[in-house]
Amino acid sequence: MKLLEGKVVIVTGAGGGIGRDFALAMSAEGAKVVVNDLGSSVSGEGKDTGPAQKVVAEIKAQGGAAVASTDSVADWEAANRIVKTALDAFGRIDCVVNNAGILRDRFFFNMSVEEWKAVIDVHLNGSFYVARAAAPYFKSQNSGSYVNMTSTSGLIGNFGQANYAAAKLGIIGLSKSMALDMAKYHVRSNCIAPFAWSRMIGTIPSDTPEQQARLEKIKRMDTAKIAPLAVYLASDLARDVTGQIFGVRANEIFLFSQNRPLRSVHRAGGWTPEAIAEQAIPAMRAQFYALDRSQDVFSWDPI
Ligand code: NAI
Repeated sequence: MKLLEGKVVIVTGAGGGIGRDFALAMSAEGAKVVVNDLGSSVSGEGKDTGPAQKVVAEIKAQGGAAVASTDSVADWEAANRIVKTALDAFGRIDCVVNNAGILRDRFFFNMSVEEWKAVIDVHLNGSFYVARAAAPYFKSQNSGSYVNMTSTSGLIGNFGQANYAAAKLGIIGLSKSMALDMAKYHVRSNCIAPFAWSRMIGTIPSDTPEQQARLEKIKRMDTAKIAPLAVYLASDLARDVTGQIFGVRANEIFLFSQNRPLRSVHRAGGWTPEAIAEQAIPAMRAQFYALDRSQDVFSWDPI
């Protein structure tokens, strides 16, 4: 018996990169797959029905069942059509993988309102729209799994990605809320922060020798390496796994921490700004975080 036999999975942004490997791996485990992809550029411009249809053809050639959807996740009506595609084609929906994404990198002080909104719309609003459209079905069948793609850009930090970091950290809050609100219906929600060489990462600057060396290392991280965790999270093997944030980088899998108080200070009679400067901050400073970027924390080469 295959792990996802009888299950129907929607993978958004499945026309290429990590999402394509998710769709292929889900299908190989017996799932019927809605391959959703708008077919836009990395920055979210244009559309093309080709990428989704190509992945559907690949799945069918392997003997699997798949249907293409070229609606945008970034629109409520279109997101509902994505879910309807699953119901019309396969009669149910068991897993939503919120994977579609774009980048509009720019240093914060130069970022335009359009760049901010476009990225929030696809990642954060898009994840909400597709998840929310599937929620009534998950609720009534008393089962379902959400897999939401986040990023260490949000969890840790990165230059020039205020829009993307905010959206990806927003997805952490969304995923936890979905896990909490739907636990009583046995619906689970987890996040994956992937590291993989895709066209999205191809936009990383490679002007200096250091940047070029970093890029060469990133190229070794295969998109297909992310798929086993997504398949696991979609499957009944993960029936008791919810509200978690995982990471995958080549052959490493990470479990990320979640925010809890690190340290507290108390002062009878309350605080003044001066007392905070003199006592509270010195007491807490040892636990301050450096202004790290993702690459400072993931400082070793992919394994
Ligand atoms: P990718 O650019 O290869 O794939 C994203 C796909 O989403 C594209 O095929 C694109 O056409 C599609 N898409 C864009 N806007 C859409 C919309 N409105 N509706 C439907 N589809 C849309 O990128 P990659 O690397 O495969 O990214 C997959 C996910 O993983 C994204 O959420 C990304 O933010 C996340 N991620 C990737 C990392 C990496 O190292 N590649 C690192 C951290 C996060």
